[in-house]
Amino acid sequence: MTRPDDWHLHLRDGASLKAVLPHTVRQFARAIVMPNLKPPVRSVADAAAYRDRVLAAIPAGKQFEPLMTLYLTDNTSPEEIIRAKESQFVKAVKYYPAGATTNSDFGVTDMSKCDRVFEAMQQVDMPLLLHGEVTAQDVDMFDREKVFIERHLIPLKQRFPNLRVVLEHVTTSDAVQYVLSANNIAATITPQHLLFNRNILLQGAIRPHFYCLPILKREEHRKALLQAATSGNPKFFLGTDSAPHPRNGKESSCGCAGCYSALHAMELYTEAFESVDALDKLEAFASFYGPDFYQLPRNTEQITLGRTTWRVPDEVPFTEFGLVPLRAGQEMTWQMLDASMAEAN
Ligand code: NCD
Ligand code: ZN
Repeated sequence: MTRPDDWHLHLRDGASLKAVLPHTVRQFARAIVMPNLKPPVRSVADAAAYRDRVLAAIPAGKQFEPLMTLYLTDNTSPEEIIRAKESQFVKAVKYYPAGATTNSDFGVTDMSKCDRVFEAMQQVDMPLLLHGEVTAQDVDMFDREKVFIERHLIPLKQRFPNLRVVLEHVTTSDAVQYVLSANNIAATITPQHLLFNRNILLQGAIRPHFYCLPILKREEHRKALLQAATSGNPKFFLGTDSAPHPRNGKESSCGCAGCYSALHAMELYTEAFESVDALDKLEAFASFYGPDFYQLPRNTEQITLGRTTWRVPDEVPFTEFGLVPLRAGQEMTWQMLDASMAEAN
């Protein structure tokens, strides 16, 4: 199939970036790189410097293009949006509700405060990427995406109908329904939300490596996501949300949100598509609809996935504590072959 891209990825910085980037580079040609560093990537200057650090971390002889994003805050200016558009390398602006997830303390406290920025984004056609969850304490954890759509997304789309939006990492049938019903909106879907429902979080014991945000939902929602991903509708495309945290940050009395899937993302998606006999829909989901939405050329290189069993490692090197990949220690049924291996076969 055509080499895919990852339209939602956390790469972190420094030694962590160097540890995880080779996994993504092996699988994907490009990725939309999330800006939730500490402190976040808020300006075009921050994004340029971060992009240089990502480029410097690409293993020798490999090709990879980081597509940068800006972190929206209450103080982002419309002028910064114009500069971002002119930069060519900033491809989108990311909205996090303040306090919703990892490193979101700088996030937006009230969406309507950003209307001048949304106006500028609509004008220059800069996509808005949404972490679509409310943080209101009276809203149940499992309803946060649905309530975000009702309270914030529907009014936003009414104010800015031409603003192109990606509802990131959708987790519910409500989100699928909404994306299908509205214009100028697409959605990314992670491998964990296609493969697992919320039961896995508490299967006989608490399993922190399946904890990400938005949290896994009921089986009926997983089925709706799998149906959307395999439907051939270009509004749904691949975004892993691979979000590395060191083992001690996950296995803790106050563990971080995030699943690590960069190691084996394509294998996980392939398994999900195969489970509903939809392998013929995988290439467009992984390699066509994302670049089409972002108005970028599709990749021309090919990759090969083969049917093989292999065991996901218990841990990969990352800081002094190591990183536990999604489904660590378990058997996989597909494997991405390196170009050299594909030729040998
Ligand atoms: C992400 C992270 O760790 O940066 N975690 C996650 O659970 N998805 C943040 C995010 O995208 O919500
Ligand atoms: Zn994310």
